[in-house]
Amino acid sequence: MLSSMLIANDVNLAEKAVVTASSHQDSYLSEKVNDGEVSDSSRWLAAEKDQAPWVELNFSSPQTIGRIDVFSGWKAGNSLKDFDVSVETDAGWLRDASWNVRGNISSAKRVLIDRSGVTKIRLELLKPGLARIREIAVYASSDAPGLKDIQTHKKAAPAGASHAHHHHHLHHWEIPSKDPDRIILTFHGDPATSRAVTWRTDTGVMQAVAQIAEATENSRFTDHAVTQKAVTEPFDLGQYKGNSSLVVHYHSVIFDGLKPDTLYAYRVGDGDAFWSEWIQFRTAKRNYAPTQFVYFGDAQNDVLSHWSRVIRMAYQTAPDASFVIHAGDLINLAHRDHEWAQWYKAGGFIHSQWTAIPVLGNHEFMPIGSNQPASTSIQWRPQFTIPVEDELPERLHETVYTVDYQDVRIIVLNSNYCLNEQTSYLEEQLRNCTAKWKIVTCHHSVFSPARKRNFQFGRDEWKPLFDKYGVDLVLNGHDHTYARGHVPVRSAAESDVGNLGTVYVTSVSGPKQYRFSREQMESYADEGYQLDQPANLKQFFQVINIENDTLTYVAYTVLGDEYDRAVISKDFGTGTKKLRKESE
Ligand SMILES: [Fe+2]
Ligand SMILES: [Fe+2]
Repeated sequence: MLSSMLIANDVNLAEKAVVTASSHQDSYLSEKVNDGEVSDSSRWLAAEKDQAPWVELNFSSPQTIGRIDVFSGWKAGNSLKDFDVSVETDAGWLRDASWNVRGNISSAKRVLIDRSGVTKIRLELLKPGLARIREIAVYASSDAPGLKDIQTHKKAAPAGASHAHHHHHLHHWEIPSKDPDRIILTFHGDPATSRAVTWRTDTGVMQAVAQIAEATENSRFTDHAVTQKAVTEPFDLGQYKGNSSLVVHYHSVIFDGLKPDTLYAYRVGDGDAFWSEWIQFRTAKRNYAPTQFVYFGDAQNDVLSHWSRVIRMAYQTAPDASFVIHAGDLINLAHRDHEWAQWYKAGGFIHSQWTAIPVLGNHEFMPIGSNQPASTSIQWRPQFTIPVEDELPERLHETVYTVDYQDVRIIVLNSNYCLNEQTSYLEEQLRNCTAKWKIVTCHHSVFSPARKRNFQFGRDEWKPLFDKYGVDLVLNGHDHTYARGHVPVRSAAESDVGNLGTVYVTSVSGPKQYRFSREQMESYADEGYQLDQPANLKQFFQVINIENDTLTYVAYTVLGDEYDRAVISKDFGTGTKKLRKESE
């Protein structure tokens, strides 16, 4: 087994590729650059007037490429210094900053690729000039011995490359280790007595555990910690071609049998030397009580550089929030692990302390490769431990669910697919609901404020249920702008005049912004919608407080300034609601 692997390791895949090039001079034919011999002179030399020289290896079938070795046209020269490498996979042409041959002053350059499904490799001169190459060799494994050549070849390969090769283009904070990372709390079961935690390690942690204890002033609370074994799931990032081929372990534990309204401390780890810090959260009260939570519209783009300030300001503004609704498009490219890494880094410990209610957006539902149908982000189910609603089709599991928190019901819908299948679920969750407040969230905006966007199904099929069962608040994203409006009760009865039906909010937390369209908002008038407050070009977070007969919604800008406020007061006897702009 081992010896056959070593042989396979050694195969120079370049030799079975067809080589083409932009041009060549005289007898410096590009077809020679893959003959497996590092000759004394250039094999390929671009024509003198070639302003953008390139050479390409074409494979007849997709290949896994660990490494490319490129040898300069001069034995000791630097003819590679302005080359860049890109590869074609079914996800399109990929280029990675770490693949550049720029700046190389050795006679050979070792480029660690770590991609599967590669159909073409292209070397491109980034500025006009003489392009010359002696040899190109390609290996499935980064550890392949490679072609024999002058000493400088070895110098070009970084020391320790064989150990680090899987991670060469990952940031240090993306690289899994035995230390838990991406720790996140979610609801699973009754929020008064249970909570789920999910985290990630490298594959070195085979059996992980979580510990939980009532928090006390004295650090010896740990003496009473209960240890629970985790469910461990191997996860291959490489299922998506844009990721490294890297297997990690996701671990999850569901804490249950907890005491209501109690501050707990938990930690996760390998049960031995690798632990998270102790992290505190409070269980919900048994009954109706003041509830505070945070809601974010799309984070999606530049999540680390530009969304981090939003979640951090939200945490500064409402540190005691019990949970947080992420209303879809948490990231931009569903399966791209680098973006999830950013999302976790942006929120840091906040994700492990606030309980998350993730909502699936269209950017978490994309094809995993060309000619494939859209599918749920490969990370979604491993990284979020979400209740499974058995009555729903399997495709909707862990994307459609209900949370009952202190007599507030939050219904999470998936506005991306299987919409019809969710309507009866929604109706059942509303019909059987005795909670004092009903909140619905889904990604697509029921009353789209951005031009040319229209979630007709939501208005045709779901809004009548919101009306019928008196949903108080609908929280959406997707439109990358801000609008708060409401639907009044429409009734012939004199007494209903001025009564509130449902407040609808579309918001955005990330940097990408679309223009608000007043014209489009006005077109919803005949559906009973009234716009109360729009905004343009602002990053927002929202804090919602529920107490006594009042739900207070406040939108804050990323600066921490209050931008918009709506106060719903409700007569729980009659269900009659009023909407005010200010707190009394
Ligand atoms: Fe979005
Ligand atoms: Fe979206």
